[in-house]
Amino acid sequence: MNAWADMQGDIGFHEIILQQGGMISDKLNLLRLEHFPPNANKGLRPFSLAEAAYFLGVSASNIKKLHLEGKGPVPATSPSGRRTYTAQQIAELRDYLDRHGRADFKNYSPCRKPGESLQVVSVVNFKGGSGKTTTAAHLAQHLALTGHRVLAIDLDPQASLTALHGIQPEIDRNPSLYDALRYDSGKRPISEVVRPTNFPGLDIVPASLELQEYEYETPLAASNRIATDGKLFFTRITDALREVDDHYDVVVIDCPPQLGYLTLTALAASTAVLITIHPQMLDVMSMGQFLLMLGGILESIGKAGAAVRLKWFRYLVTRYEPTDGPQAQMVGFMQSLFPKQMLAHAMVKSTAIADAGITNQTLYEVERGQFIRQTYDRAMDALNAVNEEVASLVHTAWGRA
Ligand SMILES: Nc1ncnc2c1ncn2[C@@H]1O[C@H](COP(=O)(O)OP(=O)(O)O)[C@@H](O)[C@H]1O
Ligand SMILES: [Mg+2]
Repeated sequence: MNAWADMQGDIGFHEIILQQGGMISDKLNLLRLEHFPPNANKGLRPFSLAEAAYFLGVSASNIKKLHLEGKGPVPATSPSGRRTYTAQQIAELRDYLDRHGRADFKNYSPCRKPGESLQVVSVVNFKGGSGKTTTAAHLAQHLALTGHRVLAIDLDPQASLTALHGIQPEIDRNPSLYDALRYDSGKRPISEVVRPTNFPGLDIVPASLELQEYEYETPLAASNRIATDGKLFFTRITDALREVDDHYDVVVIDCPPQLGYLTLTALAASTAVLITIHPQMLDVMSMGQFLLMLGGILESIGKAGAAVRLKWFRYLVTRYEPTDGPQAQMVGFMQSLFPKQMLAHAMVKSTAIADAGITNQTLYEVERGQFIRQTYDRAMDALNAVNEEVASLVHTAWGRA
C-alpha cells in the first residue's frame, strides 16, 4: 500500500502518527520501568585518594596524614590499603580543612563571597550532537566536586541532562522548568522544581517535553501583555533564579539545539556563554550562521532594555580527534580567527565518554576499572583541563586573581 492509499483510507496520517507516537512512548516507558525503577536513586562511586586530593586542591600525602592522625572523615580502606572517599566525605574534608586552616589562611571552599554575584553559564549551539549536554553535565559535576554550590538547568525538552541525572521525566511526571516559566496560573516558584542529584552540592531543574509549549505560548503571551505582567519574556529565567540566588554559586544551563525563545530567555539570564563546536567543516559553517543570528538577537535584547549581564563567552572544541587532519586544520582555522575566545583546552573524542553515556552516566560516575586505563585517563585529563579552565573564568568574573 502506498502513502496515498493510506490517506484515502478511513484513517488519516495524523491519526497514524499519533497512534504510533503513543505506541513508542508506551513501550519505551515499560522498558525504562524495567531498567530504572522510578524510585531507584542513583548512587555515586567512591573516589580514590588521588581524586579526592585533586578535587580538594591539596596533596594526597596531606590527606593521608589527616587520616593517620585521626582527623576528618574516615575513608574506606581496601585490604591492600587503598583509601577511598565518598563525595560527601570530600565535602566534609573541605569543611575540616577550612575550619582548621593552616598558617597561610588558604581558603579551601571556592564558594562566592559577599559582592561576588551568581554566575550563569549557558552551553549553546543550534547543532544537535555538538556535545552541549555532555559539556554541561561534566562541568556542573566538576564544579560541585570542587566545592561550588551548583544548579544545573535542563532547558532541552528532550531532557537528556535530566535523564543523565537519573530522573525519568516521562515516567515520573515530575514538575519541570516549564512549571517555573509558564504563563498561566499553574506557574510555580523555581524552588519547588529543584531536585537534589547524586552529587553533593549539585541540584537540578529537570526538563520535560512540556517545555516545548514555551515556544508557542511566548508569542501568544507577548501579544497579550496582561499574561506577562507587562514584562517581556526574556526576564523569566532571570526572575526565577533571583528566588534561589543565595543557594548557589554557579548555574549551568544545557540549552536545546535551537535558537528559540527558551534559548533566548537563557541567554538573557547568562553571565557567560560556552559555544560547543565539533571541528568539522559543516559544523563550523553552521556555527557561523548561528553566531550571526545570536549576535543579532543579543543586539535586539539589549535594545529592548534587558540588562546585558554577559561577562565572557568562549568556544569549546568537542569530540576532537587531533590525529584527524581536517579536524586539526579546522581547529587551527578557528584559533587563528578567534585567538582570544577559543578555550586553550579541547574535549577529545573518547569511547570512555561515549560508553558512559550509553548507561546514562558521566565520566565522573563510571569506574576507571571498566576501561582501558589509558583511554580513561586521557579522557579524564582532557575533561578536567577544560573544566578547570572554565572554573577559572568563573573565578575571574568574581574578580579573583
Ligand atoms: N568527548 C566525547 N567523546 C565521545 N563521545 C562524545 C563526546 N562528547 C559527546 N559525545 C557523545 O556524542 C553524542 C552527542 O553529545 P551530546 O552532549 O548529547 O550533544 P548535544 O547535547 O549537543 O546534542 C552523545 O551520544 C555523547 O555521548
Ligand atoms: Mg543535548
